[in-house]
Amino acid sequence: MIESDNKELIVDLNSVAETERLCQILGSVLEPGSFLALCGDLGAGKTTFTRAMTVALGCRKLATSPTFSLFQKYDGGRLPVFHADLYRLGSEDELWELGWDEVLEEYADGLVIVEWADKFEESWPSDVLRMSFSYGVDEEQRRVEMTAFGERATSTLLALEKGWTA
Ligand SMILES: Nc1ncnc2c1ncn2[C@@H]1O[C@H](COP(=O)(O)OP(=O)(O)O)[C@@H](O)[C@H]1O
Ligand SMILES: [Mg+2]
Repeated sequence: MIESDNKELIVDLNSVAETERLCQILGSVLEPGSFLALCGDLGAGKTTFTRAMTVALGCRKLATSPTFSLFQKYDGGRLPVFHADLYRLGSEDELWELGWDEVLEEYADGLVIVEWADKFEESWPSDVLRMSFSYGVDEEQRRVEMTAFGERATSTLLALEKGWTA
């Protein structure tokens, strides 16, 4: 699926504060309708990233779902955020039974962030920013490898690169 002309960006995050800085920049350049597909092992930093994104966008938490809930909504920010953690999802069919098509429709002008997105690649929309998190050499370090699929994700990644290196 990855073609040589897909825009890519690799960023080393040396601390949680750097993850937060990345989110501040991303939060300012993200366009409505963006879809972030987060991949990477347990503890790689997907939820930390998601939380920092909602802070960067100025969201207040709305839903009082139990912590094991698959879906969370965050409203009141620059973009409404839908957060899915698919770790416990058994099959792709289950995702559609939970109303995934309605989610994509409802958040067509918002932001969808999906943890464990690589387990369900079939359900990705055509325009996606893939973010693959991994451990760095020390405990506070993480690496995120980003690949853009589609025009919107590509322009987001170009803007992020500009902001990150500024
Ligand atoms: N640079 C970093 N960026 C993000 N999280 C980090 C970083 N360094 C250490 N951490 C820690 O790693 C853990 C990541 O956990 P979490 O975000 O829940 O991972 P995941 O959702 O991928 O399972 C958190 O305890 C966080 O404080
Ligand atoms: Mg998580």
